[in-house]
Amino acid sequence: MIVLQGVNKIHGPGGPAQFQSLFDIGFEVKAGELVVLKGVSGSGKSTLLSIIGALQKPTSGEIEVDGRRIAKLPDLHASAFRAKTIGFIFQALNLFEEFNVAENVALPLIPTGMSQKEIDGEVDRAMKVANIQHKATRSVRDLSGGEKQRAAIARALVNDPKIILCDEPTANLDRANAEVFISILGELKSLGKTILIATHDPMFEDLGLVDRVLSIEAGRVVDP
Ligand SMILES: Nc1ncnc2c1ncn2[C@@H]1O[C@H](COP(=O)(O)OP(=O)(O)O)[C@@H](O)[C@H]1O
Ligand SMILES: [Mg+2]
Repeated sequence: MIVLQGVNKIHGPGGPAQFQSLFDIGFEVKAGELVVLKGVSGSGKSTLLSIIGALQKPTSGEIEVDGRRIAKLPDLHASAFRAKTIGFIFQALNLFEEFNVAENVALPLIPTGMSQKEIDGEVDRAMKVANIQHKATRSVRDLSGGEKQRAAIARALVNDPKIILCDEPTANLDRANAEVFISILGELKSLGKTILIATHDPMFEDLGLVDRVLSIEAGRVVDP
């Protein structure tokens, strides 16, 4: 489902200001796998996720996601690819505080041209999986941290993506909400989603759900 080969990322214009965050990254994630990308802050996890999600392009290397080569995808095609294939759950949840939960969850579907009835159906389905449907009409501003994250999960699921990318998903959660998050992950896995989680939370270390842990150190994937 995800194949990387020789991926390098260099930031900046060149000269002394440039910085290489990823070095010769190569790995594969099969359909339905849940893989943890483990590494300390600054090791390159977020950069790698954003390259897999076609939010950034690598400086060199090949990336195939769901059968598409995305390393050189023009921006317009990259956004269409994301809308169809990828659900993102970021640490900064990027919700609109003024809007209610259902409105936030519906946002990714606005450009698709679906009817309001179809949108409502998908929004309901996603809110149920994320266990936030009881707050559908509440402003995001009034939600707790754990509820905000569940709203963000629902939004990531609303386009029924094959792949879900999570960046430090438990960083701002207390233990109880982290456990809720993990039970939602279990449900996503049983739906056959391919899931990649960047984290340094030890909670993921002995989790039965996790198929594989990839360690990243200073921009390189290392053997555990
Ligand atoms: N746009 C950028 N310009 C310069 N350096 C960057 C940029 N993005 C990330 N980096 C650097 O790349 C390294 C990896 O960053 P990041 O992928 O955010 O790591 P992590 O998510 O593991 O904390 C860091 O040293 C960071 O400062
Ligand atoms: Mg990060």
